[in-house]
Amino acid sequence: MKRILHLFLVISIVQSVAAQTIPHLQQAGGAQQLVADGKPMLLLAGELSNSAATSRDDIRGWMPRMESMGLNTVLVPAQWDLIEPEEGKFDFTLIDEVICQAREHHLKVVFLWFGAWKNSMSCYAPMWFKQDSKRFPRAMTAQGKPLEIANAFSENVFQADNKAFGRLMEHIKATDKAHTVVMVQVENEIGMLHDARDHSPLAEKEYRKVVPAGLVKYLNKKQGSRLVEGRTWAETFGTDRYADEKFMAYHYARYVERLAQTAKAIYPLPLYVNAAMNSRGRQPGEYPSAGPLAHLKDIWHFAAPSIAILAPDLYDKGFKSWVSRYALPDNPLFIPEVRYADDSGARAMYVFGQYQCLGYSPFSIDNPPSSASRNLTSAYGLLRQLMPRILQAQGGKTVTKWGVLLDKDTRDTVIVDGDVVMTCSHGNTLPWASKAGEWPEAGALILKVGRHDYLIAGSGVVTVFKHRNELGGQQARRLGEDGFAMDGNSRDGVSKADRWSGRCVGLGTVDEVTIAPSGQIEYVRRLNGDQNHQGRHVDLGYWRIIHVKLYEY
Ligand code: DGJ
Repeated sequence: MKRILHLFLVISIVQSVAAQTIPHLQQAGGAQQLVADGKPMLLLAGELSNSAATSRDDIRGWMPRMESMGLNTVLVPAQWDLIEPEEGKFDFTLIDEVICQAREHHLKVVFLWFGAWKNSMSCYAPMWFKQDSKRFPRAMTAQGKPLEIANAFSENVFQADNKAFGRLMEHIKATDKAHTVVMVQVENEIGMLHDARDHSPLAEKEYRKVVPAGLVKYLNKKQGSRLVEGRTWAETFGTDRYADEKFMAYHYARYVERLAQTAKAIYPLPLYVNAAMNSRGRQPGEYPSAGPLAHLKDIWHFAAPSIAILAPDLYDKGFKSWVSRYALPDNPLFIPEVRYADDSGARAMYVFGQYQCLGYSPFSIDNPPSSASRNLTSAYGLLRQLMPRILQAQGGKTVTKWGVLLDKDTRDTVIVDGDVVMTCSHGNTLPWASKAGEWPEAGALILKVGRHDYLIAGSGVVTVFKHRNELGGQQARRLGEDGFAMDGNSRDGVSKADRWSGRCVGLGTVDEVTIAPSGQIEYVRRLNGDQNHQGRHVDLGYWRIIHVKLYEY
């Protein structure tokens, strides 16, 4: 009996150690962090274009480049049609190649389950599924037209999708002993097109039922609404497109939750879903409706509690505003797709500085080298150095990091840290900068190292430090390149009656630095004289880290 007990104890210790080493999310202060190989990490990622991982040669071709670009993670489609080309016959050759190559090139992998839906459509379902629309029915428009969108209310659709997804998770569990795969995306930009909801007979049957009481209670609590239990979807929410979208969101989320439960029972990697934005003034039905959109977050949270993150795919204008809608206390910020362009590096600095961001990933990262890839590589190089400090700041009780993102429309931003006021401006605002042509987005991450002690990392941002009481009522003089008055008419309007009282801060030392893996700040060169405008400002110039120590006088 004693021996059996001992054996049982050993088995459960081994099991719990193994469970701890599986990549997972962990709360650190106000942030949720991804823990892999036993330590938290930020995903400095990129997502492959859709067809980049459909041949072994291609996978071998691009993987070294991902490493040399400075990524630590790559997001890769796992496509149903290639995994299960014949019903019940599975082929994981490409999945194995991705894991093997990623490991060789020191990369982590996030697999994207391109299952029943990809950008609303069902183009990644295998041929045997597509051809048999009797067994695997379609969603329909209000006119009864079938769509190339699998029916989310069909148990056959779910069982087929779930079986393949489950087999994928089993395969990862069995083969990825080194935990290269750190997270899985369930479906891709799930959502309804053409209409805000499915009008197939299966869907209509559900639509006539009452709204689940749990959902009504949850929404009333979360949103302060007064919805009444025991009423149908139309009675509860009305019959417009937005009401239809709610119905569909609940059912997509329930479907996804069932897939998530399958995955969790097999191999509990963190799971997330991604959303195409309802941007450009589009209405439900005109964008993939009912996906994990910000305005539907409560429905998704209620119906799909096993999904850890609702994640935005960001291609349209208004980057900052979209991000702010997903970086919430109940939703960690992970950006699995963002337009891959010259501004991708600046945006990375911003999101990791401003938010408790878990990961960031431009889309179509296998594009040929360009100014976009150079910027991203530079940004990721700085973020890698700063990663331990960023992770530590995420877990802290007070705000000790900030993000800056500037362009022609938003030229300045002001950050207040106690008595210190930092005015960050776009480099093109300097009197001697050439204003011609484009204003590339400028981005920075500012980290507080100690009192009057900051690291500023990024590109194209100029920062002026003042003591809070230096700003009251006095207009700054416009200065020229030499730091003297811009011209003979630049009086600053301060009258002799305005007696100065209080403190000022100045730049004590400004050094370009690197950060060693130990976290040690290592001196590269001093930036003084013209390089800090004779002690007036800190100019990041092009992709570097600057260590600023202030003094008070
Ligand atoms: C968003 C999708 O999620 C991606 O797979 C890809 O189709 C891009 N759109 C293309 O812009």
